[in-house]
This record gives sequence, C-alpha cells and structure tokens, in this order.
Amino acid sequence: MSMTSAEVREAFLSYFADRGHQRVASASLIPGNDPTLLFTNAGMVPFKDVFLGDEQRDYNRATSSQRCLRAGGKHNDLENVGYTARHHTFFEMLGNFSFGDYFKREAIQYAWEFLTEVLQLPKEKLWVTVFTEDDEAYAIWANEIGVPQDRISRIGEKDNFWAMGDTGPCGPCSEIFYDHGEDVWGGPPGTPEEDGDRYIEIWNLVFMQYNRQADGTLQPLPKPSVDTGMGLERIAAVLQDVHSNYEIDLFQALIKAAADIIGTRDLDSKSLRVIADHIRSCSFLIADGVQPSNEGRGYVLRRIIRRAVRHGNMLGAQGPFFYKLVAELLRQMGAAYPELQSKEKVISDALLREEEQFGKTLERGLAILNDALADLQGSVIPGEVVFKLYDTYGFPVDLTADIAREKELTIDVEGFERAMEAQRKRAQQASQFGVDYNERLKSSHRSEFTGYSATSGTSEVVELFADGEKVKQLSPGQQGVVVLSQTPFYAESGGQVGDVGRFLIDGTVFVVEDTQYIGKAIAHHGRAEAELQLGDRVKVEIDSQRRAAIKRNHSSTHLLHAALRNVLGEHVTQKGSLVTAERLRFDFSHFAALTAAEIDAIELQVNEEIFANHQLTTALMPIEEAKQAGAMALFGEKYDDDVRVVRMGDYSMELCGGTHVERTGDIGMFRIVSEAGIASGVRRIEAVSGLAAVRHSQHQQQLLRQSAGLLKADPAHLPERLQQQLDRAKGLERSIADLQQQLAAQAGGSLVDDALEIAGKKVILAQLENVESKALRGMVDDLKNQLGSGIVVLAIANDNKVSLIVGVTKDLTSKVKAGDIVNVAAAEVGGKGGGRPDMAQAGGTDSSKVSQALAAAQGRIEELLR
Ligand code: ALA
Repeated sequence: MSMTSAEVREAFLSYFADRGHQRVASASLIPGNDPTLLFTNAGMVPFKDVFLGDEQRDYNRATSSQRCLRAGGKHNDLENVGYTARHHTFFEMLGNFSFGDYFKREAIQYAWEFLTEVLQLPKEKLWVTVFTEDDEAYAIWANEIGVPQDRISRIGEKDNFWAMGDTGPCGPCSEIFYDHGEDVWGGPPGTPEEDGDRYIEIWNLVFMQYNRQADGTLQPLPKPSVDTGMGLERIAAVLQDVHSNYEIDLFQALIKAAADIIGTRDLDSKSLRVIADHIRSCSFLIADGVQPSNEGRGYVLRRIIRRAVRHGNMLGAQGPFFYKLVAELLRQMGAAYPELQSKEKVISDALLREEEQFGKTLERGLAILNDALADLQGSVIPGEVVFKLYDTYGFPVDLTADIAREKELTIDVEGFERAMEAQRKRAQQASQFGVDYNERLKSSHRSEFTGYSATSGTSEVVELFADGEKVKQLSPGQQGVVVLSQTPFYAESGGQVGDVGRFLIDGTVFVVEDTQYIGKAIAHHGRAEAELQLGDRVKVEIDSQRRAAIKRNHSSTHLLHAALRNVLGEHVTQKGSLVTAERLRFDFSHFAALTAAEIDAIELQVNEEIFANHQLTTALMPIEEAKQAGAMALFGEKYDDDVRVVRMGDYSMELCGGTHVERTGDIGMFRIVSEAGIASGVRRIEAVSGLAAVRHSQHQQQLLRQSAGLLKADPAHLPERLQQQLDRAKGLERSIADLQQQLAAQAGGSLVDDALEIAGKKVILAQLENVESKALRGMVDDLKNQLGSGIVVLAIANDNKVSLIVGVTKDLTSKVKAGDIVNVAAAEVGGKGGGRPDMAQAGGTDSSKVSQALAAAQGRIEELLR
C-alpha cells in the first residue's frame, strides 16, 4: 500500500482516536519549563509530568505526531545525518500513550493491528525485540500475536530500556523491525550485522514503569503506563517501498528544491540529504523561538545551519542558498504545522543573516584547514587547528569533525579543549590586570598627566624598576620602568593605547616602548640608552606623529558611536573599544549583521561631522550632572565623582579620559574596513582615519582597476561585465552537460543494435568510454526501456577505478538477479556490490580485467537463462 507521509500521519492519528485516544497537537521543540532537557526529543516529552503523576489531564489515553529534535543532549544523531538511510536531526514521532490505563498487552495488540491490518504490512517482514528479562512481553508476542520465535530477540539494556534523559520516566521496551529485504546489507537485531540498513526499527513500545533519579536509582511510577514512538519518515519509507528515508516524497521534494537552488544535478549526493534534513530542524527551531547564538540551544541551531552552509558550499552554492529552501518546506509541511507558516519571514531572515555571517569566514577557514591537511602527519587534525577554526573562523567543532570524517580523519578533541582552556585563562588575566608585566609592580606615586595639551616637557625621575624590583638606577642597555613627577605620556586606558617616545639628558637616555598605569602612577616601560638615576631631570618627548594618529582614531570612535545610534537605533551600546595609531576597533550590541546600506550611511555620517569641523570641548563635572546632560557612559563602569566630558558640537557627548583632536576636521577622512559578529548579539567594526583612510581607499581603487583590467572593462561597467561572464560560464556548463548526454544517448543507440541474443533474450555487454559513473544508472534505465525485455551489463574504467552496473528488466528478475551478475563480474576486478534484483552496482580496482569481468557476467547469464 503506497501512502504519502501526510496520509500515514492521518491514518495513525485516526486509528488511535477511534480507540479512545485524545488527539493532542505537536508541542514546541523547546520543552516548557523543563531544565533537564535541551529539546523535545520524543513524543512523550510533553506528557512527562502526566507519567510522573504530577499533572492530571481529563483523558488517560492520547495520540500525537510530535516534532522532535535529536541534535544535542542524550539523544544526538547530528553526526550520523547524511551517512545513514535513517538518521535525522528533526523528525516526526507518531505515538500512542496510556497514562495508567492499558499496559503491555494492549500496546502490543494495537501496534500489530495497525501495522498488519491498517497499513497491511506483510507479517513475515516484521521482527520484534523485547528486554532480556521481560518474559511477559515475550509471551504476548509469541503466544498471543503468534510471531515465530526465531523472529523475536531478547536485547539488553542499551537498546531495550528506554529513558527520556539522565533523569525522568523510563522503562523496558519492545521494538518492531521491518526487513527491507535481502538486497540491502544488514542483519536482524542482536546480530553483529544489525547496524546495516536491512532491518530497520520502525516502532518502539516503551512500558513506562520508573522515574530515574539523579543518583541513578529507579523509583516506580504511580501507575504502569505506555509510551510508543514510530518515526513517520521510516514508516513512510516502508510504505513507499524505498529503503532510505531520504527517498520518501517529502525528502525528495526538499532534495530537488535544494538541487535547483544550488544548481547541482547529482540528486544522490550526501550533501543534499544533509541540507534537506537540516532545513527542517533549523526552520522549526526558529519557529519555536530559538535564534542562532553562541550558547545553549542557539548554538545547536548555529551548528546545524553552519553544517548545512558548508555542504551547500561543497556542492558549489554561490552565496546564501539555505534560506531559500523555506518556501519548499512550507509547501511540504505548512498544512500540518500552521506555526511554521506564520513564522516564514522570521525563519528566512534569521537563516539568511547566519549564512551571510558564516559565508564571510567559511572560505578562509577552509583554506586554513586545507593548508593544515597538506602538512598533516597521521590521521588526527591537531587541537590547535580545530581551535583556530573555531575561534577565528566560527567553525563549530562538529563541523570540523564532519569535514575530517569525509577525509577519513579524526580531530584531537582533547587538544582543542586544552586550547579553549588556555584562551579562557588569558582572557581572565587580561581583564584583571591589563598587560601582565604590570602585575608585580607596586607604586604609591600619583603622576600628573600633562598630555592633553603638551607633547613634551621636563620632569624628574621619581621611581625606577628593573626585573620587578625597585632600583636606584638603570644602566645602559637595561630594560626598566620609569615613573616621573609629571608626564605628557598617556598610559593605556579607556581603549586608547599607551604612548611611546623618549627621555633626554643631552642625548637620549631612555626609549619609551609603552606606557601603562601602576595604580595611579604613569609607568614608562622601555630601555635605558645611558645611565639613568633617581632624581635625574629629563626632557621628555612623545612620538607626536603617532599620538596625532591615535587622536584622530579616538575622536573618530566617538563620532562612530553616535552615528551607530543614529542609524541603527538607541539600543546600540558600547561593548569594547581599541584605539591605536593604525586603526580603531569598536564593539557594540546589535542583533544583526549590518547591511551594506547601513555601513554606507554610518560612514557618510561620520564624514559629514568631520567636514562640519566641530570644535572639541572638554569639561570636568560631577558624574550626575554629566549623565543628566546626556553624556554617554559605559554601563557597569566605575567612574570618579568628577568626570571628564568630551563634546563635539551637538553631535556627540561622552565621558572619556582619552586624547582627542582639536576640531573634527583634523580627522580628515574616515573609512569602515570591516564589520562582523564576535559574540551573540555583539558586532565589531574596524575602521581607519586620516591618511590611513586615504590609503585604504586607494587600495580598493587598485583592486577595482586590476579586476577591470582582467576583464578589459571600464571599472564603471565591471558588475555588468562580470555578470555576463558568469552567465556565459553557466551556459557553457549547460552545453557540456547536454553534449555529454547526447554522446551517452548515441552510444546507447548502437549498444541496442549490437545486443547479443542468449536463449532468445537480448543482452547488452559493453565497456564504455567517456562516460561518467554518475550517468550509468540513467543509461541502464534507457537501455532497459529500449530493449523492452533483456539484460544490460555496463562497465567503465578510469585509472584504478572500475564501475560496473547491471540492469535486468522486471520480467526476467525471477531468473536473473542483477546483484548476482554484478557480483560475479566484480569478483574479476577485485570488488563487491549490491542492489535490487532489477538494478545493481559494484566498484572494483583492477581496470586491466574489465573484459574478463564482462565475460564472467556473460557466462553467468548464459547459465541462468538456459
Ligand atoms: N519514547 C520512545 C522513543 O523515543 C517511544 O523511542
């Protein structure tokens, strides 16, 4: 009986509704109020409290088709998706439940009746398992239902004792398996071959009896209950007579849509299966209120999206593609899930944002990984590489593991965790102590800072340190730290880096490499050039060019902060900043990547304020007064009672101790260099000002000229010309594919003319050239159609790879099985194969033996037909 997924869902629910079960709509993927569970991972989750006796409902039987996610927590199938015929991150679980009403006998009877009478599955295709000690269930299956004993297995706790999580309802279970037939490799449950795809578990009947406590003990439930779960996708595959879940109607539609969007033709690709699976979990997660982020559920979502994006990239997707699949998903599942329909825009917006964000680093991350692979000794990708991909390029660890698995490598998880830990420590230290060489130094001095107006002056040496100790003098060449009575050197603070420069007595006596605070003392770190003693009077000079560049960047930072709030909204607050001579970096709260238009608007506004040439003013005032005037302060930051307020016209007002330009016009020019997300809800802009901004513009100009030169186009026409070239390349690819098909068709025509006759049947035996192995299946189908009745055996050989395929028309499969022929042939070329009676494929390695393989196939066909 062939049924669509939607028909199976309905048949199940109405069967149980007719038997007194309340129909309950699918609950959210996010379990309500249950901290023990990341996601709804089974049909029983919404009923957990009813099983435990903590909640009463006005029914004691229920049935549902519950959306489930298994991508984190106790039940996690993420890494198997794409590699097997039946694992999913998201699936629908059909279930019937008894809350202290019926128990084992009825649960088993219902399941058997539904499978064999409603769905009309042949009884001899069904196998069952029971928990080792469950004699009662065994007896019901064997004596009341009449399942032959050789098709009932007793299985241990790992597979036949089901638990929701580490705590919660649990109990022994009994599973029903479907035999997909001898053409698929695998063995019955409990045998060494059970992991193959031949015997597939379709339904799990759990006899809920206990509540597992955190210490592992089992507490009996108030009443024995029943929880069952049947994967909709698996049972649909059985009914549609396909052996992989990915071949059912719903997945085929998603796979075709994905192939169209990406522009690939290989519908059998593993990556398409991954994408078709992932669009379901990601869309439902977002519909249920999860957004990509760096922790908890949001991070699981991010990991799944990024895995899908990487698989699309492997198939050649250009730019974001994943969000476009939402439309097809709605066509497939929107009717059954109205909640999906109403969230369409939220879903595709969130997916697009995440794709764009990851798209920026994906290519570079892959390049780094490929370099690492090229240098790799052995088969384990080092933890530092995994960490770098994670930290710098946003590759979740399981994404790197997925790539590794494709290349038959593994990753060093422990090494990765060590690198993570080291990073956490560094971050802690940096936030507590600033630069760590200050840690051991103590000073009670209070330095006077003269650097708001001066860049040079004279001063007295009041404290000296070397090797972490106070000293009286520094000798020539010695590294040390100098504290002066007063100084124009700015000590790193508020995101602005410390100054560099020199001290002189006649000539240079000390080169200042960095300036930091020690308590309230301004400490000049550097190297003595001549002898320097306590009490010396020195002339001091900061590197004023460098300071000027820092000032431009610091004032630009204030303008940027104001522009961000104007353009993006008042929710933007500063999360961090760094001002150096070369560039500025500004971190702020915002939930989405900035669009190109937003970036342009912000950059333009900052430049407008530069041209407005506002006078910069500073004033000391009590903190309350400053806040009342509307000065922007950092949330959670401790300020002195009196604060310094920096104003630029009416445009910007901030609390700030840094050094600034006199008029905004001094900045000259401002350019944004990059924008990216650095943590959940936190964005980072990097920008340049002054001459660096001019250089940045020039560099972009050069890139444009170079690209235009390559295309021999005027830069103004570059986008058009590029589009033309891309269209042309697409057209060429299409003609090549068409030509290949034509060639294959021509080859096919003469094959039919040259077919042999064996015992009155047409048989084609041929080795083909210039045919891709992917095209073989299609060719065999064509040839079988042309023959009407007959057998086709085709081989291709390239280097050390032989592909064999055998097709048998249906009328002959009772005598000749394709799998048998292909194995006889494959044995000659060192291979092995499998498939269905009408179509089977095999590979081999010995390309010098192809004619022997064909001869062997012919011999076997003769034997079987005569
Ligand atoms: N809760 C059971 C399972 O998920 C039915 O397999």
